[in-house]
Amino acid sequence: ANFSIELNHQKRISDHLLGIFFEDINYAADGGLYAELIQNRGFEYHPHDKKGSDPNWNSFKSWKLEGKGITHKIDTVNPIHINNRNYITLFVTAEGGALLNEGFDGIVVRNGQKYDFSVFAKKVEGNINGFVVELLDDDGKIIAQQTVNSFNKKWQKKSLVLMANGSAKKGILRITPQGRGEIALDMVSLFPQETFKNRKNGLRKDLAETIAAMHPRFVRFPGGCVAHGDGIHNIYNWKNTIGKLEERKPQRNLWGYHQSVGLGYYEYFQFCEDLGAAPLPVIAAGVPCQNSSDGGAGQQCGIPLHEMDNYIQDILDLIEYANGDRNTYWGKKRAAAGHPEPFNLKYLGIGNEDLITDIFEERFTLIFNAIKDKYPEIVVIGTAGPFNEGTDYVEGWKIADKLNVPMMDEHYYQTPGWFIYNQDFYDRYDRNKSKVYLGEYAAHLPGRPNNLETALAEAIHLTALERNGDIVEMTSYAPLLAKEGFTQWNPDLIYFNNEEVKPTVGYEVQKLFGENVGTHYVNSTNRVQSTDSKVTNRIATSVVWNENRSELILKMVNMLPVATDIEVDAGHFALFGAEVEKIELSDIPSSKTARPVKSFMDLKDLNQLRLPPYSLTIFKLIKK
Ligand code: AHR
Repeated sequence: ANFSIELNHQKRISDHLLGIFFEDINYAADGGLYAELIQNRGFEYHPHDKKGSDPNWNSFKSWKLEGKGITHKIDTVNPIHINNRNYITLFVTAEGGALLNEGFDGIVVRNGQKYDFSVFAKKVEGNINGFVVELLDDDGKIIAQQTVNSFNKKWQKKSLVLMANGSAKKGILRITPQGRGEIALDMVSLFPQETFKNRKNGLRKDLAETIAAMHPRFVRFPGGCVAHGDGIHNIYNWKNTIGKLEERKPQRNLWGYHQSVGLGYYEYFQFCEDLGAAPLPVIAAGVPCQNSSDGGAGQQCGIPLHEMDNYIQDILDLIEYANGDRNTYWGKKRAAAGHPEPFNLKYLGIGNEDLITDIFEERFTLIFNAIKDKYPEIVVIGTAGPFNEGTDYVEGWKIADKLNVPMMDEHYYQTPGWFIYNQDFYDRYDRNKSKVYLGEYAAHLPGRPNNLETALAEAIHLTALERNGDIVEMTSYAPLLAKEGFTQWNPDLIYFNNEEVKPTVGYEVQKLFGENVGTHYVNSTNRVQSTDSKVTNRIATSVVWNENRSELILKMVNMLPVATDIEVDAGHFALFGAEVEKIELSDIPSSKTARPVKSFMDLKDLNQLRLPPYSLTIFKLIKK
């Protein structure tokens, strides 16, 4: 193939081209990114959370009692807050009995690390004057211990620090009341002190750092389907997820488990800021998920029209919460939570892959117009609806054209072949219409692996997205996270368990594109010496210029089973330093272990290149 780069022909590409899609699917939040180690800390699990039958999925899930002379009851009579109804009462008739929590399939404890324990407690009857809090290792040995003393008859938060003098993979938290009588407990919490950026109520450091390494320019949250919910009563309500943890309203997760909402809107905004990424919340367009368990009835009805004013007000309040100054009603709440400065919300998604019906259109239009009136500076992102081959997005785009929606969210999960043969998908888009946010995409193979074949198909697509970075403003692979053994959807970008983070090959591709972004797309001509589209479509290239770092970055994907020789026209290369950084990702297509290898080469050797079979190669040239 011949490859010539036209340095003088450049176009600006979006600053937000590569971001992340965070949805609480696959235990991505509780038991995942949210660093809380106690499962069901508020005793709020409910059998209706769970898809499929699990006799243990109730308000006592992941708790147990140990020893004689102790019994329990889940109470609702006098809760800390009406949103957080359940708490536990322990009845102690003999000393030694204890309450145990097994975390999310065990608590990982690291020797020498400090853990913040807290609990709300109140004395009900008798003379329980304290309790011992311990962490036990896998053999039941005590590896951390502290005592909480003095309660009274009102709910009080008690906090202490546990210092671990041993490690555990499947550790247990044990609370042993001292004395006899009745004591009530709620919001039993344990966090490692070491969290991402050391935030309290923070995020799991290793997972968050793996995400940060992708250099995401924006974060979409809280979904996906979770955003528009399983029926109208399950639509994600941001107001239930802010403020004091004990006053938040947990809820059923559409993917068949529980959301404590400890990772709520404040924490999402904070995470965006910590990543240097723009926040992109997605709010339901007044209709729930098209796959709701009521068989779609919810989507047929949507939020009743007479309730839409309140619903719209909630959305306007969110903008005030994010951007209003601290004297505004909602800005004051943000400031009280510890962030007096605005979060600089610019983008707001309305709707998620909804069926484009009259019911949808009516509600979307009301919301869109209200935001435009009050906050014209907000870029509203509409939804193009589900992708149907052949009729792609016609109905969704009709609304975009009618209302002049600034940007449209498209979703597609397709075979590698689709990505190989649809590289011109966005080349065909009208530049005078709405911009595009490719909010969800991934290459799917039978069995749904994340391997080099799927990753390279995504890399091919990413070269086309860079080329179309003038109209495609944002993109995010979906879904992002999946906990091993608790996965509802494959493939995902980053798998993890309690101890380890396991990025996929697809992650490596996203990270390479994230690290090697450009401010401008540079025209190039890529002539493959073949007339067979099976050959030509399997080689994709893109060249970007990063004006902030003075770097010219060449990306080349070879999805052929053979090495391919490329002659690069090096006409302008004298402008660059003699050394070129080369990053190569290659292996067999089914490889799940391929990792990028970095090396350096001479600029003069760039003229004649050999791309390995099944590879992504990046060349980075730095201006003299
Ligand atoms: O990414 C997984 C799911 O796929 C999302 O929740 C939904 O929007 C889409 O159908």
